Amino acid sequence: MRKLIKYPNVPLSTKINTRRLVIRPYVLSDYKNWSQSKGKQQPSLNDFDFGCPEKKQLTKIIYKKSIQEHNANWKADKKYVLGIFLKKNGLNVGTLDLSIFDRTDIQSANFGYYIYNHSWRNGYAYESAKSLIPFAFKILALHRLEAGIKKENKASICLIKKLGFLYESERKNFLYINNSWIDLRYFVLTPEIFNNKYQNPLIRRESV
Ligand SMILES: CC(C)(COP(=O)(O)OP(=O)(O)OC[C@H]1O[C@@H](n2cnc3c(N)ncnc32)[C@H](O)[C@@H]1OP(=O)(O)O)[C@@H](O)C(=O)NCCC(=O)NCCS
Repeated sequence: MRKLIKYPNVPLSTKINTRRLVIRPYVLSDYKNWSQSKGKQQPSLNDFDFGCPEKKQLTKIIYKKSIQEHNANWKADKKYVLGIFLKKNGLNVGTLDLSIFDRTDIQSANFGYYIYNHSWRNGYAYESAKSLIPFAFKILALHRLEAGIKKENKASICLIKKLGFLYESERKNFLYINNSWIDLRYFVLTPEIFNNKYQNPLIRRESV
C-alpha cells in the first residue's frame, strides 16, 4: 500500500508579505472588499476572464459558503486559496490557489491565479505568484507544481514562463469546460528550477 506522506499543518492565519502585497486566506470581514472589487470589473475582456459577475453571485451567503469551503479544504490539505490584497489600501485584486493532487509519493499541486481585470498589468500576478512558490515548496513541502493553460491564453503563458515554469506537454481533451473537452498545455516547476531560481538570496529577500 502507498504510504501517505505527512503534510504540514499550516495555520489559516498564514500571511505572505511582498513589497506591495499581502497574500492570505480570505476571512468573513473581507466580504465588502471582495464583492466591491469583483463587482467593479469590466465585462469579460477575453475568453479566460470571467469579468464582472452578476450581482446574485456576490451575495454574503455565497461568500460565507465559499469561505467555509476554502477553510475546510485548507485544513484537509486539499486546496489552498489565498486572496491578494494591496498593502497601500487593502484592496482585494485577485486570488491564488494550490490544489493538491496527491500526498503519497507524488506531492504535487496545480498552481492557479486570477487577477480582477481592473488591476491587470500592474505586476500583481507576478509578484504574488512568485511568493507562492517558496510557500508551496518550503511550507507545504510540495515537490512539483503544474499549471495547465490553453494555448490561446498568451498572457498566462508569458506569466508562467516568467515565473520559471518549463513547458512539459500538451494534454489532449483534458478539461471539460463550456460543454466541450479542451486541450491544455502543461508547464511545471520542479525542485531543480526552484533551487536555481528561488533559493537565490536576492530573490528570496524581495519576494517573501
Ligand atoms: C494572466 C493574468 C493572471 C495576468 O495578470 P497581471 O497581473 O495582469 O500580470 P502581471 O502584470 O503580473 O504581468 C506579469 C507577466 O505576465 C505576462 N502578461 C500579463 N498580461 C499580458 C498580456 N496581456 N499579454 C502578454 N503577456 C502578458 C507578461 O509576461 C508579464 O510580464 P511583463 O510585465 O514583464 O511583460 C491575468 O490576465 C488574468 O487574471 N487573466 C484571466 C484569468 C487567467 O487567464 N488565469 C490563468 C488561467 S490559466
